[in-house]
Amino acid sequence: SQRQEIDDTLALLRLEKAQLRQVRDRMRVELERGLKKDSHDTASVKMLPSFVYRTPDGSETGKYLALDLGGTNFRVLVVKIRTGMSQSVRMYNKIYAIPQEIMQGTGEELFDHIVQCISDFLDYMGMKNSRLPLGFTFSFPCRQTGIDKGTLVSWTKGFKATDCEGNDVVDMLREAIKRRNEFDLDIVAVVNDTVGTMMTCAYEDPKCEIGLIAGTGSNVCYMEEMKNIETVEGDEGQMCVNTEWGGFGENGCIEDIRTKYDREVDEGSLNYGKQRFEKMTSGMYLGEIVRQILTDLTNRGLLFRGRITEPLKTRGIFETKFLSQIESDRLALLQVRAILQQLGLDSTCDDSIIVKEVCGAVSRRAAQLCGAGMAAVVDKIRENRGLDHLEVTVGVDGTLYKLHPHFSRILKDTVKELAPKCDVEFVLSEDGSGKGAALITAVAKRFCAET
Ligand code: BG6
Ligand code: GLC
Repeated sequence: SQRQEIDDTLALLRLEKAQLRQVRDRMRVELERGLKKDSHDTASVKMLPSFVYRTPDGSETGKYLALDLGGTNFRVLVVKIRTGMSQSVRMYNKIYAIPQEIMQGTGEELFDHIVQCISDFLDYMGMKNSRLPLGFTFSFPCRQTGIDKGTLVSWTKGFKATDCEGNDVVDMLREAIKRRNEFDLDIVAVVNDTVGTMMTCAYEDPKCEIGLIAGTGSNVCYMEEMKNIETVEGDEGQMCVNTEWGGFGENGCIEDIRTKYDREVDEGSLNYGKQRFEKMTSGMYLGEIVRQILTDLTNRGLLFRGRITEPLKTRGIFETKFLSQIESDRLALLQVRAILQQLGLDSTCDDSIIVKEVCGAVSRRAAQLCGAGMAAVVDKIRENRGLDHLEVTVGVDGTLYKLHPHFSRILKDTVKELAPKCDVEFVLSEDGSGKGAALITAVAKRFCAET
């Protein structure tokens, strides 16, 4: 029957406990492989050193400029950090658009655009001549050799500007500033958004040693023991590692849980074959998985009266905010139909029930997969320290985590189930990256001054 066919389709997205445990264990293997000298080249989880050696201790101070590139919004910020009795952080920021032509144009155009936005911001703030130290939150995989050096490994998400991969991000920014020849900046740090998010959360909570982004992309960083990071000299203390877990599965290790819908999404993406875990877990792709399933059901005559309309063919139509609305429990089905109508999809009451079920299955799987990955990370930290029991806080940001009505709960439940020896608290660290970049810049500046 029709119902049976729909149930069979939804079942493709269901993950049994045993499968989730396997995902956790395979993630653990990849985390280890990414840290080792002889396997990091081929590991699907890159485990990139961040050159951030500690979380903030409250003594950070000063006034900084920060850039935040790679999430939903590109922002330029000024961040003031005060210590002492009235310890506080104040931020002023402006959001700028990055048109798709620029995201996918030439590298020079992209960096010229960034510098143009900085220029506008400095004018707006009346700070053109202040030459503030700058922290650059750049939310893409960078192979760093120092806090202010990072080579872009590959673009991810919606970016594909030419002549950037393989080049140093800080150099490209410096060159664009030179080309403009209008103001000077002191670029002190390049920071992944996960790292910025962890630092901001750790500023308030010393138990925070993990940063998670569940947004346009999906990624995690955490404090690792230096002696385990074979790709960096030195054995003392710790360093934050940007896992780039979005790449998990690029070596084929999760093919058994990928569906034909995941493969279709992959084929339609800007980076075919890459970021396979990210494509099952992050905001940029969940709506696309939903669209593939709805298209399939429609082709099989099970939905929308069997008629494929333009909106169903439109890439990116189901943004995270729509999925979040559709899945809200407070919404009556009539309202679900109104949302679909907004997107140009005429639905019957039965259709709206099916759409809601599909959205639920896709986002549940995403949250469970993130939870399985997180379970691997927290258990690794616990074992690193030789503890029977670990209490740890995760600083989190990202539209999927913030807007979705069930994602955060399922994520948390899954971690609890799969890492029973760890007590994991998730704390929202909203707009954390900019503040975090400033904190890192503060530490790096002081370090330079001392040595
Ligand atoms: C923002 C951070 O709040 O969240 C960014 O400042 C980060 O650095 C972003 O990339 C992630 O969420 P999204 O959903 O915008 O990709
Ligand atoms: C992508 C990027 C990663 C970033 C994440 C979240 O996975 O490769 O660097 O942290 O998106 O924005």
